[in-house]
Amino acid sequence: MDKRPETMERITTRALADKFIEEQLAEIKAQVGDKKVLLALSGGVDSSVVAALLIKAIGDNLVCVHVNHGLLRKGEPEMVVKVFKEELGANLIYVDAVDRFLDKLAGVDDPETKRKIIGKEFIDVFAEEAAKLEGIEFLGQGTIYPDILESDGVKAHHNVGGLPEDLQFELVEPVKFLYKDEVRVVGSALGLPDSMVYRQPFPGPGLGVRCVGAITRDRLEAVREADAIVREEIGKLEPTPWQYFCAIPDFQSTGIKDGKRYMGWAVVIRAINTVDAVTAESVEIPWEMLKRMRDRIIETVPGVNRVFWDISDKPVSTIEFE
Ligand code: XMP
Repeated sequence: MDKRPETMERITTRALADKFIEEQLAEIKAQVGDKKVLLALSGGVDSSVVAALLIKAIGDNLVCVHVNHGLLRKGEPEMVVKVFKEELGANLIYVDAVDRFLDKLAGVDDPETKRKIIGKEFIDVFAEEAAKLEGIEFLGQGTIYPDILESDGVKAHHNVGGLPEDLQFELVEPVKFLYKDEVRVVGSALGLPDSMVYRQPFPGPGLGVRCVGAITRDRLEAVREADAIVREEIGKLEPTPWQYFCAIPDFQSTGIKDGKRYMGWAVVIRAINTVDAVTAESVEIPWEMLKRMRDRIIETVPGVNRVFWDISDKPVSTIEFE
């Protein structure tokens, strides 16, 4: 197992981040030379920081692939393109794989099967893109130190991981000895926006595990719209909770509109605090904020006629709904 050097200082300030960045740029250049590096850029903190470092170190020789699987939050794919392609000038391939993922997921209601399909499809799409490119010898990865400590260096322990045998590249992992808070300090020093650097954790299968049961396109859109409202409102709390989002279970209940009864979905709001995601406590949300979210969701999200607030702690309830 790779071990963080004992002499390595914790990166807590801008000056220490700048020093780390200088060292990493030199190391990346020494490792990669004028060869090409491929990176799956999800828009998460870790891959974003690695992308920003690699762009600085090797410019166009970094090829980023952003796979839109349709399960990202509102505005996320656009944000990745804006920040990396337009602002940082990255060599970015945007892959619209929405139909492909949603077709594969249609009718699948078992959570672990959903996760497996998403993980496998992601690897397939990425491998297909990689196969179209020539002269790639390295693979950039946003491995961070907890990944090494907790799961033998495999990123996102929940997801099926690993690239196919014929796609074995040498790894470039510039933040592999950093803890999350250090990655964020480095990301800020690299000029990434706060909304990217200080964002809350988001599961690999994305909104797929919050559109509970078999995913349908209309319910998934409803989760995405409601989630944007929940994030905007609860994001105003100080301090902001560790994780806050919503889910839409696969059931409908009665509503009434224009004097007629109809069936609609229920949005469940969840906000939790935790240290390590092993246990978690439901966060108190002010009544005025709850009512504002309720009104905005009911008024603007098609198909929703009810709003719940989940006050369960972990254990026994997990943070996500499936
Ligand atoms: P649970 O629901 O197990 O979640 O209490 C604990 C933390 O893990 C995140 N989570 C995931 N992350 N892939 C991920 O990358 C997944 O399949 C997954 N499922 C849960 C969850 O958001 C929480 O922060």
